[in-house]
Amino acid sequence: MRYSTENMDTVKLSQRLAEADQSHLLQFWDQLSPEEQAELVSELENMNFQEINTFFKRAMKTSSQIKQEKVDSRMEPVPREVLGSVTRDREFLKEWEQKGLHCMAQNKVAVLLLAGGQGTRLGVTYPKGMYDVGLPSHKTLFQIQAERIIRLEQLAQQQYGTKCCIPWYIMTSGRTMESTKRFFSKNKYFGLREENVIFFQQGMLPAMDFNGKIILEDKGKLSMAPDGNGGLYRALGVYKIVEDMERRGIEYVHIYCVDNILVKVADPAFIGFCVNKGADCGAKVVEKTNPTEAVGVVCKVDGDYQVVEYSEITLATAEKRSADGRLMFNAGNVANHFFRLSFLKDVVNTHEPQLQHHVARKKIPYVNSKGEPVTPDKPNGIKMEKFVFDIFQFAKRFVVYEVLREDEFSPLKNADSQDGKDNPTTARHSLMSLHHRWILNAGGHFIDENGTRVPAIPRHGPAGALTPDGKQNLKDGTDLPMKCEISPLVSYGGEGLEKLVQDKEFHPALVIDESGIHEHVKNGL
Ligand code: UTP
Repeated sequence: MRYSTENMDTVKLSQRLAEADQSHLLQFWDQLSPEEQAELVSELENMNFQEINTFFKRAMKTSSQIKQEKVDSRMEPVPREVLGSVTRDREFLKEWEQKGLHCMAQNKVAVLLLAGGQGTRLGVTYPKGMYDVGLPSHKTLFQIQAERIIRLEQLAQQQYGTKCCIPWYIMTSGRTMESTKRFFSKNKYFGLREENVIFFQQGMLPAMDFNGKIILEDKGKLSMAPDGNGGLYRALGVYKIVEDMERRGIEYVHIYCVDNILVKVADPAFIGFCVNKGADCGAKVVEKTNPTEAVGVVCKVDGDYQVVEYSEITLATAEKRSADGRLMFNAGNVANHFFRLSFLKDVVNTHEPQLQHHVARKKIPYVNSKGEPVTPDKPNGIKMEKFVFDIFQFAKRFVVYEVLREDEFSPLKNADSQDGKDNPTTARHSLMSLHHRWILNAGGHFIDENGTRVPAIPRHGPAGALTPDGKQNLKDGTDLPMKCEISPLVSYGGEGLEKLVQDKEFHPALVIDESGIHEHVKNGL
């Protein structure tokens, strides 16, 4: 059927658009092909313009308030009694890990992956989880995470003798859903059972100009983007995911981001710590050591937990130090969270509608009134996003768990050509550097081509070491990490390696996987 402006449906649609002050969306109607018209109508018919306009007004109002007032005077650091730390609480780590594994053995733990982002900075056309950072095995982020889940299931099973299943919920967006699903299916779910990998899709919102007009990226196409990783809570409701979790007997959920190559999916120690503390919500953090590092910090504001962005505080507050010499506000947020299912349910059913969108001012490509494409050189509009941590304020028992950055956090954000931070090279090096340390700690050694042992700590600092601002020190070739990769199917967190490597010498590149120990792997480094 050919749509025309006289068609009943489109008449109604133009009325709705006029009422919402968005009539400009049909300004190129007569220049569109019938197919383009049909596509535009179907996109617009599914949109609630009144709701979008309300989101815009609320988000802009809050954003201007935030700009005006810094929160410094209302902030308090995380108190020690709700803080667990892998360095300061060593004596409890085993107990927490056992507790977490026990919960897994009882099939009470699920993991939830946030993979709905667009990965704009990385700049690839496919979902970030499908990215290969160039490890010897060429495993993608999705595969590494899947194998960590499989290994944990085995560990829980071995320890408690019961069959363990950790279901994996994967949030995608309109832009990433089909390719993500195809990739999993093509790769046979990386050894997981298909029914235990559950995909669902977050919502999308249009980009708006500063006057609240929806931006057209093409004559018949709106500029749409996912509604932020906090779009999770609405999507959980739409797809009835909490109900699915309840049916499976899940009590605890670990939520994390797709782009952290070191992520300890369903980290048993973190889960055990949170469960033992009776927490309804928990955040894993890494220590912020540089006052000007652009990372949000977990802290209390007016008595409630929240993540405060670096732009919301003054430098004086960012530089404040505690008696032990550490920064006072040093709980760097890495978007890695624990939820008790009952709390997640409350968030979805009760608190989600109260959450407001944050405003991100962006350069958004658009078509001008003549229909010509324009790529702006300064921000011309906003994207509206919710954040996964926006719900901390509703938790009754909130805890924080501090881990080591070099062991657990190395996100893939940028393409390699950029400034050397958080890119495929740093991600690859962080993983190999961690695995190198696992080998050394398990009593293994590396030798060079002359058969001489390579010192554990190279002359110019530890291999692949991160500087305080998260950059990797690669100025000198000696700082490159040892080429070494251990399959998650062999070891989840460094365990079980002694029997394989103790008192043995290896030539890099070393790969240890289910089929054995391989040296001198030549590709991809
Ligand atoms: P980022 O905020 O770093 O965004 O996401 P991104 O999409 O990966 O990259 P840029 O900003 O476009 O370059 C942090 C995590 O939150 C997820 C991402 O997939 C990533 O795991 N995310 C982000 C969502 O799931 N949905 C969103 O709408 C945004």
